Amino acid sequence: MDWETLYKQRTTSAEEALKHISNGSRVVSGHAAGEPSYLLTVMSEHKEWYQDVEICHMVSLGKNEYCQKGMEGHFRHNALFVGANTKQAVSEGRGDYTPCFFYEVPRLFETEIPVDVALIMVTPPDQHGKVSLGVSVDYTRAAAKNAKIVIAQVNDQMPYTYGDSQMDVSEIDYFVEHSAPLPELKPAVLGDVEKAIGANCASLIHDGDTLQLGIGAIPDAVLLSLKGKKDLGIHSEMFSDGVVELVEAGVITNKKKELLPGKMVANFLMGSKRLYDFVDHNESVAMYPADFTNDPVVIAKNDHIVCINSSVQINLMGQACSESIGLKQISGTGGQVDFIRGASMAKNGIAILAMPSTAAKGKISKIVPLLDEGAAVTTSRNDIDYVVTEYGIAHLKGKTLRDRAKALIKIAHPDFRADLIQTFEERFHCPYEA
Ligand code: COA
Repeated sequence: MDWETLYKQRTTSAEEALKHISNGSRVVSGHAAGEPSYLLTVMSEHKEWYQDVEICHMVSLGKNEYCQKGMEGHFRHNALFVGANTKQAVSEGRGDYTPCFFYEVPRLFETEIPVDVALIMVTPPDQHGKVSLGVSVDYTRAAAKNAKIVIAQVNDQMPYTYGDSQMDVSEIDYFVEHSAPLPELKPAVLGDVEKAIGANCASLIHDGDTLQLGIGAIPDAVLLSLKGKKDLGIHSEMFSDGVVELVEAGVITNKKKELLPGKMVANFLMGSKRLYDFVDHNESVAMYPADFTNDPVVIAKNDHIVCINSSVQINLMGQACSESIGLKQISGTGGQVDFIRGASMAKNGIAILAMPSTAAKGKISKIVPLLDEGAAVTTSRNDIDYVVTEYGIAHLKGKTLRDRAKALIKIAHPDFRADLIQTFEERFHCPYEA
């Protein structure tokens, strides 16, 4: 059968498609700006159709109606990354968190976390009967590949991307046409602290390096400090508007990359409409699944990779918690460790954890003697490499516990250094000499 006839036959209403989800099944939904929010909203509106349906995903930018109060018994959320709209459900017991590395998630959907139904968002089909997963290839492609049923929201506002982001119409069971703008992120507000951190990170970045950057104020501040560099490249889990600006300024050319030269590599994209327009049918953007982009062995093929991520709290040994406040899960491991390990395996790679020295408007030091009780160790002391705050750079790899503590105290906020020095002197039985 030709793809056009197949597409027509399989196109239906959300209600009809979603009736195929059975009680007790696991539904995996697409990631971040690629979340098929319309399908999830329609499911939630018809909660009485469902009993014990697990809804599993990583970053969500939607309303997450299915994990609000009143949905118990109908839906249960399984977070592989906790977001702003899901953290309350997880902390109040209406959802669960499953620890994982991002690079492993596609494989988990083949093995330990089998998928009954994948809810995805795609572009309308092109002239060859291929749809694109657009801004979310990450684990979404693997979820769709391994699911018993695939339901796609066809959104004509989803950018068409290349790389490994296309699926054949025949791989999807139900198409639900629904046009909606992709969620947009507001630009981060950059204060003096973020700008100082950005400048410190930029001092570790050289012409020709390949970058991995996360999202938020610190990555944006780093990008802002890179305007004088040349021939930078991108091999990242995701990227946002700051990268577009540097491409347009001629700073990011991807020319010097060892792996996929000329291409900006990512597994998902999140930003403003400017970003979504930039990546649409853009041959220089290559979207791949997370088991490729985030595989430390693949990352290590970029000889000069610089990875910049952030953290909640780091203790004086260099153990970093980047995903919880004590026992309260506020985000996830995501790709942090994937990239830190990839960078350490690369020829000249470096991995930076960059963060303000304090939280809670200066009341809490993020550099601490011990992690809070219950805090998850995201990046272990064996993996940690550079830590950057607005006060400077601490290079921890290969250093003794004593030298690590000294280096971290130097970049802690001055208001907290006396307490840290006291811990240092008690722990190491020697005076602290700056
Ligand atoms: N003690 C208490 N609270 C703290 C804290 C600390 N040491 N550090 C941060 N917080 C609070 C902040 O005050 C903020 O609270 P609010 O939401 O009530 O305002 C919250 O935790 C988030 O902190 P913030 O600094 O605003 O977060 P961010 O947006 O810069 O993100 C991480 C920082 C660490 C949460 C984020 O980088 C992350 O999730 N990392 C893990 C995943 C990762 O690295 N992935 C790879 C890159 S895509």
